[in-house]
Amino acid sequence: MLNVALFGPPGAGKGTQSPMLIERYGLFYISTGDLLRAEMRNQTALGKAAKEIVARGGLVSDEIIVQLLENTIRENPQANGFLFDGFPRTWVQAYILDGLLLRMHTSLINLISLEVPEEICTERMLGRALTSGRIDDTREVIEVRLREYKEKTAPVLGFYAERGVHQAVDGLGTVEEIFQRVSSTIDESLRKVQMNVVMLGGPGSGRGTQARLLADKYNLTILSAGDLLQEEIGRGSAVGQQVSAQMENGVLVPDEVVIRLVEDRIRSNAGRNGFIFKGFPRTLVQAYILDGLLRKAGSQINCVLDLRVSTIELVRRLSLRGRHYDLATSTIIRRLQAYEQYESALSRYYENSGRLHSIDGLGSTEEVFQRTSDKVDEAFRLAR
Ligand code: AP5
Ligand code: MG
Repeated sequence: MLNVALFGPPGAGKGTQSPMLIERYGLFYISTGDLLRAEMRNQTALGKAAKEIVARGGLVSDEIIVQLLENTIRENPQANGFLFDGFPRTWVQAYILDGLLLRMHTSLINLISLEVPEEICTERMLGRALTSGRIDDTREVIEVRLREYKEKTAPVLGFYAERGVHQAVDGLGTVEEIFQRVSSTIDESLRKVQMNVVMLGGPGSGRGTQARLLADKYNLTILSAGDLLQEEIGRGSAVGQQVSAQMENGVLVPDEVVIRLVEDRIRSNAGRNGFIFKGFPRTLVQAYILDGLLRKAGSQINCVLDLRVSTIELVRRLSLRGRHYDLATSTIIRRLQAYEQYESALSRYYENSGRLHSIDGLGSTEEVFQRTSDKVDEAFRLAR
């Protein structure tokens, strides 16, 4: 989920920027001001309770606001994310928002404050008064609203600054210029979200090629268990010596060894932007452990790409490649069997948690890359 809040004094341009942002990021719009105006129009109990306060430019009670939000969020559980306009406006509302989002297992990625001097805000609102029909667009009430903002709302920025999600954006300029600034701020934060991808697929499915292309495009680090083991062997470390002896004797390298290497790599800052896991996890146990390791590092697997290629096509590709590398048919069969043994349990595991994407692996490298990167883009949009 992508959740953004637009912050700023009355007249800063929050409502003006909102429609463009909703469209660009596919967000559901929540403006507590609009919700209150609708309640007042419909003369509901909430609307009646709020009217007098809105008319004089004060802040409506947190009790009323939380009820409005609760209803709206509950009615839209499928939203891609929310754009909050004019909320949170008090310290208490900031806590309320945290709680609401936490319940949906998500959080705020950005709180963007539009920086506009008071005089300009006043000018803009007086201009708007000619057509808005808003009871609070009079010079006197505008003054109260600006004062309320300064006293009660502006301090809330501290709450978000502490959490590193507050970004100030210059709110002067054309509407389009400001939109560019706001959206590049959001895009920047989206890029900072760690993205962890697991590549599944049979030998010859194109996993390696796709992993490299995705790693380049999204600046991710490939983490391949096979490469980690080879590195240890190359370095002649104690683990490397143990592993090469095991490999020579045809014994499987034990889980503990692989897991420890993977854990070290996750802990190092090699994968600041995230990893593409290749050849790991190979078993259900490893999948559980990987989830645990990432959780400990404050991260998670965001998306699992399963490159689907028929067995016949895999055999064809491997035997073509076999001509260059002298791959015997028996080796091909052994690799396919090993893959089939673990892949169904693994894909079921990821499917159950809604992270699995089956990708048609047939077609040119570019065609398949279009499919894999579409899924990663989607995962970025959903990542919190
Ligand atoms: P709300 O409706 O949220 O109003 P507000 O925060 O006072 O903000 P505005 O809607 O007036 O300004 P805006 O930033 O959206 O600017 P806009 O884009 O329209 O709240 C109203 C009342 O409800 C509050 O006073 C309070 O009583 C209550 N309330 C709401 N939420 C609450 C909460 N969470 N807790 C408690 N009480 C709550 O732009 C303004 C004008 O400028 C427009 O005419 C526009 O065309 C123009 N403009 C925009 N951008 C530019 C630009 N770049 N250049 C030139 N002109 C521009
Ligand atoms: Mg508004």
